[in-house]
Amino acid sequence: MQNPDAIVAEARAAFAAMTDPDALEQTKARYLGKNGQITELLKGLAKHSPEERKSLGAAINRAKGAVEAALSERREAIRQAALAARLAEEALDVTLPGRGEEKGGVHPVTRTLERIEALFRSIGFSVADGPEIEEDFYNFTALNMPEDHPARSMHDTFFLLDEHGRVSENMLLRTHTSPIQARHMQAHVARYKDWSSMPEIRVIAPGRVYRVDSDATHAPMFHQVEGLWVGENVSFADLRGVIADFLKRFFETDDLNVRFRPSFFPFTEPSAEIDVAFMRGALEGRWLEIAGCGMVHPNVLKHAGIDPEKYTGFAFGFGPDRLAMLRYGVNDLRLFFEGDLRFLRQFV
Ligand code: PHE
Repeated sequence: MQNPDAIVAEARAAFAAMTDPDALEQTKARYLGKNGQITELLKGLAKHSPEERKSLGAAINRAKGAVEAALSERREAIRQAALAARLAEEALDVTLPGRGEEKGGVHPVTRTLERIEALFRSIGFSVADGPEIEEDFYNFTALNMPEDHPARSMHDTFFLLDEHGRVSENMLLRTHTSPIQARHMQAHVARYKDWSSMPEIRVIAPGRVYRVDSDATHAPMFHQVEGLWVGENVSFADLRGVIADFLKRFFETDDLNVRFRPSFFPFTEPSAEIDVAFMRGALEGRWLEIAGCGMVHPNVLKHAGIDPEKYTGFAFGFGPDRLAMLRYGVNDLRLFFEGDLRFLRQFV
């Protein structure tokens, strides 16, 4: 019979040579498997007398226990070594400084929009919102620009593809924030069915708009802030007052000339373009166009279900990007949208 202690010594050496867990399990079979050396010893016991069996059996069982212990010890050692290797590989230096240390800043256009909102809120306007992907009806028809109206050609824009991959007749990226006028009036009327209890509409609506345009004062995506005040006896004088007051507060100066230049929009009548000129500073005396405006056209009120005999209103559409250019002295509008940090950092 093979010496059990010799088998244990051999198994220990064999296990110790293994570094791979699968190979270790293979090696185990040589000692403890069906035809393993320890198993064979146990099978051979039958040949011995009962007395011999007792002491031999005990010795073999001790050897078996020792082999099993050596095996699990080696398993654990291999596991620990693998863990240690992984920890070393994935080591983190927790003392390194973080990467996201820089403080963010508000984009100059966002800052301008926030400023405009705050100023209009202070005179009783609320702030509304509308979809950037707009329906032809709200972008044009509801604003007194029926199909084939020549004014539509001033609003060259981006149409969406329909579910068949064809250019949609109906869905487009809005060309101005004026569709929010139409949506807001409609919703207002739906909410206050009783005319006598209908509160005035006094709202601004800032947002992104899109046109096929790109030069120093135009970008294919830009912003507008729509304004709308509808009520009884709202007049052009109110429009002038609100605008003049807003501009003085926005630019924080009284040294400002505001000019209403006659113009045309299908959804306002009469209509005007608003120009400003500073009376001092680098831009002294230069007129800059910053908004369109006018008295809401009776057809637009009618489209929304508002009685134009009883109610009047004014609307305006500011170009806040232009206001930001003026306020910060930026000479190319596209700089705002290029995402160049060297430019944007200046405003933080
Ligand atoms: N929506 C017009 C434009 O984009 C501007 C405007 C708004 C004019 C409201 C009058 C009233 O050109």
